[in-house]
Amino acid sequence: MSKKQCLLVRYRDFLPVTPQTPIITIGEGDTPLVRSQRLEREIGCGELYFKLEGCNPTGSFKDRGMVVAVAKAVETKNSAIICASTGNTSASAAAYGAVCGLTVFVVVPKGNIALGKLAQAIVYGAKIIAINDNFDKALELVRALTQKHHIALVNSLNPHRIEGQKTAAFEIVDALGDAPDYLFIPLGNAGNITAYWRGFVHYKQAGKAKSTPRMMGFEAEGSAAIVRGKVIPNPKTVASAIRIGNPASWEKAVAARDESGGVIDYVTDEEILSAYKLLAVKEGIFGEPASAASVAGLIKKAKSGTDFSKKKVVCVITGTGLKDPDTALQSAHTLPEIPADLETIEKVIAQG
Ligand code: F0G
Repeated sequence: MSKKQCLLVRYRDFLPVTPQTPIITIGEGDTPLVRSQRLEREIGCGELYFKLEGCNPTGSFKDRGMVVAVAKAVETKNSAIICASTGNTSASAAAYGAVCGLTVFVVVPKGNIALGKLAQAIVYGAKIIAINDNFDKALELVRALTQKHHIALVNSLNPHRIEGQKTAAFEIVDALGDAPDYLFIPLGNAGNITAYWRGFVHYKQAGKAKSTPRMMGFEAEGSAAIVRGKVIPNPKTVASAIRIGNPASWEKAVAARDESGGVIDYVTDEEILSAYKLLAVKEGIFGEPASAASVAGLIKKAKSGTDFSKKKVVCVITGTGLKDPDTALQSAHTLPEIPADLETIEKVIAQG
């Protein structure tokens, strides 16, 4: 654990932290920015880095925003919070709600969230409401609920979530000494691309960075609402975290793209799974499938001719692969059972 101050203190001047805001932490932020060992050369980047957001306490970037949203909910005397989620937001809300003694309601699409994320919400003690519909419907319902009841909404529609999540951009600039040339990021509900862009802009305005990056957001092909310019009623993709057909921060994501000179595009499930495997076998990084959309996007752009050879590129790896064991195991061959003797194992090793 780093000796650095917690996120709410370290970036207090950039956050809605008042003397009344409770300073809570379970170790969020200050995640590693690691230099690529092999893909940098193979893809052809000047410098390639991965921001490992899976190293947050609940295994995803959501903790940066949740710590702010939950602190503000406590400050404004809420005793309950609620969110719709494809899994990671629910895990994070459940953890931060638990540490503050709040009642946590999470509304999730039944059968459509990764097993590890469901396990987290269960163990942190959230009240799980599994609906027979998708994320977009769940979000519609929690928005209506929070208009009727005194329960704090902690989806990224809550501006405090975006404020907290922008700290990842600060950390990247702090580590590199300036903004990178390109920031590749998966895009689901579009809160995170909005948050990063805000972070880069605020840091530049504060004189902490000279430049801002091009924002490169990647949806999954089967849920590419922004790319297609229309709501997708039945979004589909292997990357369940970004299976979203009507992103809440749609306009803000488009503004981030246009103001930064960036791109919003999609990657296919095949490209996502291929990048997911490459990250693991070439870099030792196990991100969840949605996280690999950033790397898949970089590979797609490099293949189609963008020259990154003199560029500094950061890919955000938004969540840990341990959350989604099903996808990991689907690619496994059946494990042969080997007798427990030295000779047999030596034979297996000799085969390489
Ligand atoms: N990567 C992961 C691992 C996610 O969990 C999400 C979103 C995204 C990327 C996309 O970020 O929505 O800000 O564009 N997960 C949300 C959830 C929707 O409910 O956990 P976004």
